[in-house]
Amino acid sequence: MKFPVSETIVQEAVRALHIQDFSKATIREVVAIAGKIEQQTGAEFVHMEMGIPGLPPSEIGVKAEIQALEQGVASIYPVIDGMPALKEEASRFIKAFIDLDIAPEACVPVTGSMQGTFISFVTACQCDEKKDTILFIDPGFPVQKQQAVILGHKYESFDVYDFRGEKLKEKLESYLSKGNIACIIYSNPNNPAWFCLKDKELQIIGELSEKYDTIVLEDLAYFAMDFRKALGTPFQAPFQASVGNYTNNYLLLISGSKAFSYAGQRIGIVAMSNKLYHRTYPGLARRYGASTFGSVFIHRVLYAISAGTSHSAQYALAAMFKVASDGTFPFLEEVKEYGRRAQRLKAIFQKNGFKIVYDNDLGEEIADGFYFTIGYPGLTGDELMTELIPYGVSAISLSTTGSRQEGLRACTSFIKDHQYAQLDERLAQFVKDLRSKRLPSSSV
Ligand SMILES: Cc1ncc(COP(=O)(O)O)c(C=O)c1O
Repeated sequence: MKFPVSETIVQEAVRALHIQDFSKATIREVVAIAGKIEQQTGAEFVHMEMGIPGLPPSEIGVKAEIQALEQGVASIYPVIDGMPALKEEASRFIKAFIDLDIAPEACVPVTGSMQGTFISFVTACQCDEKKDTILFIDPGFPVQKQQAVILGHKYESFDVYDFRGEKLKEKLESYLSKGNIACIIYSNPNNPAWFCLKDKELQIIGELSEKYDTIVLEDLAYFAMDFRKALGTPFQAPFQASVGNYTNNYLLLISGSKAFSYAGQRIGIVAMSNKLYHRTYPGLARRYGASTFGSVFIHRVLYAISAGTSHSAQYALAAMFKVASDGTFPFLEEVKEYGRRAQRLKAIFQKNGFKIVYDNDLGEEIADGFYFTIGYPGLTGDELMTELIPYGVSAISLSTTGSRQEGLRACTSFIKDHQYAQLDERLAQFVKDLRSKRLPSSSV
């Protein structure tokens, strides 16, 4: 197959899927377009748009789940607070890898972090009627804004690119001082840009959350996947950095999806600080009668949404947490494959004249991991995404993530061994064609 594929084929695919503006396409729409072109031409795409784990699931989880199913758990509603063994293991896992003390009662299974943020948004925005707005430290995971829209919650956001380090304090305070921020959310490592907020930045967030009494939602979907550090030894430093070291107003979202390649079973943990779990808020008392944050979260909101979390998946996560904390299952070793892929892919992009957009953490080169960001001189992110599609390379524009930078998010999870050479060839062709397109106008 020769690239680029014809414009007519690309346009037909866009039209067939009724997409109004392809440059603003969502992840699922890019997947659909790429799929349609693949079908039409028989050409294989280098898929970098999807953030789906590309590794086999943890066997320990699968076995525990099968055993639980064989013992008949499928017919029984799980306890809404979560299975005691999972709550115990979650608390132990958090101690082992973050070095935070969170009681088992405050560790609650959810059907993935996605459900966890939804429930957290609902609960956090009901605590105090003056605080009705969510603050996103962007770039971020677009679906979380969709959740805010579904809930009818107001939100504000800023791209942290220009506000790293000390600058974060003033920027955050400019929002928090208005008194309307119910909660702050960010992911660390970051989806889409894979930067990692440093301890001093987490300290700023934590201290301001105490000063302005706002709740921090720390999304650890890519738990301990900052591969620059040796984070995988239980009960031994270094630990996954966390805002929990600097505030009592926090909850952690720990997903089974990426660290354990367990996305299909929809399981994760929301862990609240002990203080937040037991805290009462006037807004919650008015709405539900006397009740604590933890109780409203579990017995009102989670209960109303799904009456708990799949019983067998809880057995799986409990088993995976246990062996990870015992030190007999080096769970990070398997996912380090994403880092190796990122290193190779970034080198290919850079060789062909692309730049890494979010390229450092306060001067330290960014880690290699699940995602990275790339830009090409003279093209906006939207243009770059559109221009790369005919070359069989698909990724999403950073503009859909709340980023103010021009570029794309590339995900390493679906890359197969033979595709590095493919990518190199296609990018070289893309650059050659782009240069020859640009020549006539620049020589006028
Ligand atoms: C930042 C972030 N949060 C949450 C999720 C969703 O996690 P889960 O599968 O546990 O719902 C993702 C998945 O891509 C993510 O990137």
